[in-house]
Amino acid sequence: MRFLLVGDIIGKPGRKALRYFLASYPSSFDAVIVNVENSAGGFGITRKVYEELKKLGVDVLTSGNHIWDKKEVLEIIDEPDLLRPANYPKAPGKGYGLYEKRGVMFGVINLMGRVFLDCQLENPFLTFDNLYDQLSRHTPIVLVDFHAETTSEKWAFGIYADGRASVVYGTHTHVPTADQIILPGGTGYVTDIGMTGCWYSVIGMKHQQAIQRFLTGMPQRYEVEEKGDVVFNAVIAEVEETKGRCVKMERVQLYISQEELREL
Ligand SMILES: [Fe+2]
Ligand SMILES: [Fe+2]
Repeated sequence: MRFLLVGDIIGKPGRKALRYFLASYPSSFDAVIVNVENSAGGFGITRKVYEELKKLGVDVLTSGNHIWDKKEVLEIIDEPDLLRPANYPKAPGKGYGLYEKRGVMFGVINLMGRVFLDCQLENPFLTFDNLYDQLSRHTPIVLVDFHAETTSEKWAFGIYADGRASVVYGTHTHVPTADQIILPGGTGYVTDIGMTGCWYSVIGMKHQQAIQRFLTGMPQRYEVEEKGDVVFNAVIAEVEETKGRCVKMERVQLYISQEELREL
């Protein structure tokens, strides 16, 4: 089973780059999982964006701390393929699901780390234990989007889940890491997939506003950078279907010009 795993998609440039990539490699993946927490104008997701991504062929939409940014997310939060971190203690929606593609069942768990993330969350390690037990009764293939700030929490979680999860991949920092690997127990791991959005930016947002904030210490309104080339970051994970072990973790990084995106 070949999964295309995409990290945080930043606004319209990110969505266009995803469309471009999927159009360039049609039918190359058995399932596509995308983190959508920044997909609508950089903050959250709306029904319109949800429908646009579904039309592109996205199977499962994961998220993170920005999932609540647009109030109208509450209208779609119960869609079975839209996940928010499972370790929110008592929030609408759910953080895991069982899906089927081409006759193969797989589970997806969305978790959020707790270090440097200002929210009240249950322990993601223990939440995983519980959810993995439930999902693994139905399928050996379980993927985890671990949405977290620090590399150490992500690595600790990867090793903790090794031999159980098929793939543990990080999202949230918007910066890709070069450490994709298959751990000794058969779990594919990468600390952060990185964003898909305009690269000449501060993690997808206009750099002027970010720099102003660092110069003055005052809050700034952030806007998605929409100019210049777009970087598409993803990982292709190949998972063997009987035992759910990862056999290949391949990084994809593509720089796409605005002209190429306009050709779509
Ligand atoms: Fe993000
Ligand atoms: Fe995030």
